[in-house]
Amino acid sequence: MKVPDIKVTPPGPNARAIITRDKAYIATTTKAAPIVAKRASGSIVEDVDGNVLIDFAAGISVLNVGHTHPKVVEAIRAQAGDFTHFAGTEFYYDVQTRLAERIAKLTPGSHEKKVFFTNSGAESNEAAIKIAKHSTKRQMFIAFLKAFHGRTQGALALTASKAKHRAGFFPTMPGVVHVPYAYCFRCPYKLTYPSCDLYCANIIEDAYLSTIAPPQDVAGLIVESIQGEGGYVVPPPGWLDRVAEIAKDNDLLLIDDEVQTGFGRTGKMWAIEHSKAVPDILTMAKAMGSGVPIGAAVFPAKMDFSESGVHSNTFGGNPIACAASLATLDVIEAEGLVARAAKLGAHLAKRLDEMKERYDFIGDRRGLGLMQATEFVKDRQSMRPDPKIRDAIAKDAYEHGLILLPCGESAMRYIPALNIPLEVLDSGLDVLEGSLRRA
Ligand SMILES: Cc1ncc(COP(=O)(O)O)c(C=O)c1O
Repeated sequence: MKVPDIKVTPPGPNARAIITRDKAYIATTTKAAPIVAKRASGSIVEDVDGNVLIDFAAGISVLNVGHTHPKVVEAIRAQAGDFTHFAGTEFYYDVQTRLAERIAKLTPGSHEKKVFFTNSGAESNEAAIKIAKHSTKRQMFIAFLKAFHGRTQGALALTASKAKHRAGFFPTMPGVVHVPYAYCFRCPYKLTYPSCDLYCANIIEDAYLSTIAPPQDVAGLIVESIQGEGGYVVPPPGWLDRVAEIAKDNDLLLIDDEVQTGFGRTGKMWAIEHSKAVPDILTMAKAMGSGVPIGAAVFPAKMDFSESGVHSNTFGGNPIACAASLATLDVIEAEGLVARAAKLGAHLAKRLDEMKERYDFIGDRRGLGLMQATEFVKDRQSMRPDPKIRDAIAKDAYEHGLILLPCGESAMRYIPALNIPLEVLDSGLDVLEGSLRRA
C-alpha cells in the first residue's frame, strides 16, 4: 500500500477556532494534542487544516477495525434507516438479541451466560459491581493498585491508577481493598520472576483475605489481564492463573475487565485467553462498537437479577450500536484480525526493542499483540521514571504526523488499528524513531 504523504503544520486557523470554542464550552479533559479531526479512514486522520496524520492511538483502543470501515459504516447507515432507538430494556428487537447471543458464545466458558448492555466501560463495571453484589449478597471487592476501571463513583472505588482521579471525591463505594499488581519492571516487593514464586499473587490470600478482606464478605476480585491506563503492565506467565485459583479457592467471583484489551487487541479475542483462567463476569466496551458507544457485562445466567428493574438503563443495547458491534465482529472474523494483531504485534515489538537498544531513556518495552508500550526513564542505571521525555516525544511525534497516547507514569502506548497496513505501521515507527533521535 502507498502510504499517504504525512503533512503537519501547527494548528491552523480552522483548528484554532474550534479549540477556542472547545476550551470555552467543554468540560476540562485530558487533550493529548491539538488535533481537530475532519475525516479519517483506516489508520489515517485528516484534520480541519488539511494535515494528514498516522493514528497509533485508535481512539484509545476503540478503532480496532480502523476508522470508518466500510462494513461498519454500512451497518450503521442501514440500521439508522430502520429505527435509531426503541429502548432495548423495555421492548424487543432482533439486532440486540443477535448481538447478545454472539457475545455470550464468544466469551470464555461454556456455561450459559447473559449479557447486560451498557454505554461505556465505566458503566459495564458498574453493572459488574451490582451483578456481583446481587448474586453473592456480599459487599466487598479486591482490586489492584494502578488499576483503571472508570471514573464514576462505583467504578472509581475500584480504580487506583492516579491520585487525581480520587482526590476530593470521597467517599466512594466502601469495601474495596487494593493489592499490588504484578509489575515486574518495578516489582513492589523488589523480587524477581520466576524466583519470586508469584509472591504478589500469593500475598492476596496470605496477607489480605486472611486479615482485612474476609472471603465471606468479598463479592469478587476485579482484574485487568494487562493493566491499561496503569502503564500497559503485562503480568508474568502463571500470575493470572494463580489469581484465578485464589479467587476460586476463596469463593470470590473473578471479574475480568476487558474494556481496553478486548476484541483481538492482544492477539487473542480476550486478553484473559493468554491464561487458562475463565472469568465469572467479563466487562467490555471501547472497540465493541467501533466508536458507537456500547459496552457489556457478561455473566453466568444463574446470576441473573431476581426481578425486573433491579438494574437497567435507557440506551443500553441501542440498535445502531448493536449493528455497529455485529459488523465489527464480522470484520474481525472475516479479516482474521485477531491473528493479525499477534503477527503485526510481533513486528511492532521487534522494532520497539531495536529502539530500546539504541536509546538509554527507554527502560522497558512490553505488551501483547498490538497493545505495546515503552516506559521512559532518566537512564538505565537509576531507572527513574521520566514523564517529561515521554511527553516531549509525544509532542514531537504529533508535530511530525504521528498520533500517540501516553499511559502510566512515564509510558507511551502503541495501539494502532488491528488492520493497519504494514507500510503505514512502519512509516509511523519511522516518525517515532525520528522523535526519539531528536529527544
Ligand atoms: C480497563 C478499563 N476499564 C474501564 C475503562 C473505562 O471505560 P470508559 O472510559 O468507556 O468509561 C477503561 C478506560 O480507559 C479501561 O481502560
